[in-house]
Amino acid sequence: MSIETAMAEKAGLIDKELDAVFPKNGIANLQEAVWYHIGTGGKRIRPVLAIATYEALGGKGDKILPFAAACEVLHAWLLVHDDIEDGDRMRRDKPTVWVRYGVPHAINIGDYMSQKTYELILRCRNRGMDEKTVFRLIEAIVTTAVKTAEGQAMDMNMRQSAEPTEEEYMKTVTGKTAHYLTVPAVGGAIATGADQKLIEKILKYGEYAGPAFQIADDVLDMSEGKGRGEIGRDIKEGKRSMMVVHCLSRCTGEEKAKLLAVLGKEPEKTTDRDVLWAKVLMEKYGSMEYAREKAKTLITKAKKITEDMPAALREILNSFADYLVERKK
Ligand code: IPE
Ligand code: MN
Ligand code: MN
Repeated sequence: MSIETAMAEKAGLIDKELDAVFPKNGIANLQEAVWYHIGTGGKRIRPVLAIATYEALGGKGDKILPFAAACEVLHAWLLVHDDIEDGDRMRRDKPTVWVRYGVPHAINIGDYMSQKTYELILRCRNRGMDEKTVFRLIEAIVTTAVKTAEGQAMDMNMRQSAEPTEEEYMKTVTGKTAHYLTVPAVGGAIATGADQKLIEKILKYGEYAGPAFQIADDVLDMSEGKGRGEIGRDIKEGKRSMMVVHCLSRCTGEEKAKLLAVLGKEPEKTTDRDVLWAKVLMEKYGSMEYAREKAKTLITKAKKITEDMPAALREILNSFADYLVERKK
């Protein structure tokens, strides 16, 4: 089964799990804000990846559903805090949580969701999951949250760097996304009692697929845009994207000084002309093309890792990999 087919079939299972932990008539500026952010009836790609992995490895019944929903909440929590960290005002064509509810509430909303992630996993016990498996699922989420926060710190640290290297970039995006992107599949596998060797293979796959996803994200921001109502928001934020790293290492000293000045401006003071200038410079040095190729190479490597996985899981992970770099949002 492909990830698209799985989304069409399984996405609908998740809202019920979320309803159980986020009552719709709850405390003002809390549960309503959670629903504002996670929406209803979305594609739910992360939960679907958890369910699809579970079923691909022979898992039966609804034991996996609370963990699957936890993957959506983990994602939502990280993005609410990420938008504060990045000062982003728009996500998915809507004002971000901190813009709508204020920073103090947004921090609390993220904290709340972070613990609901674990509460959801604990609820797997009510579906007959044994405690050792629940423990292993929690462990997978703990590792993911730790690695992601480390990557986020490196991402923010890099924004001051005049000489960001591709090696630093790869280390940062691996931290930020490798575990985070594959934890649904890791959890789906754990829930079927899969052995450690297969789990490690899924993590290895993530070390390629995660950075590929992030590079595709960098490219999207500079081309079609990604639901922020503008193109090149990353330039305004001073983010050291794959293209910025590539371009800085190849352009002339004069161009470099100007690019660093544009990246260093406060986001709201960076003009659309500045962004356009940066884009033209990146195109001059083939940085966009370089990033696209790099993402493709990483996807090829990710798919190589899936070669000796069980066929049904391989199919899911390969289509998930394609989805990551082909998506338009
Ligand atoms: C955020 O990364 C994703 C996390 C790992 C939490 P970015 O800051 O690069 O992504 P967007 O552009 O805000 O989605
Ligand atoms: Mn961000
Ligand atoms: Mn960020």
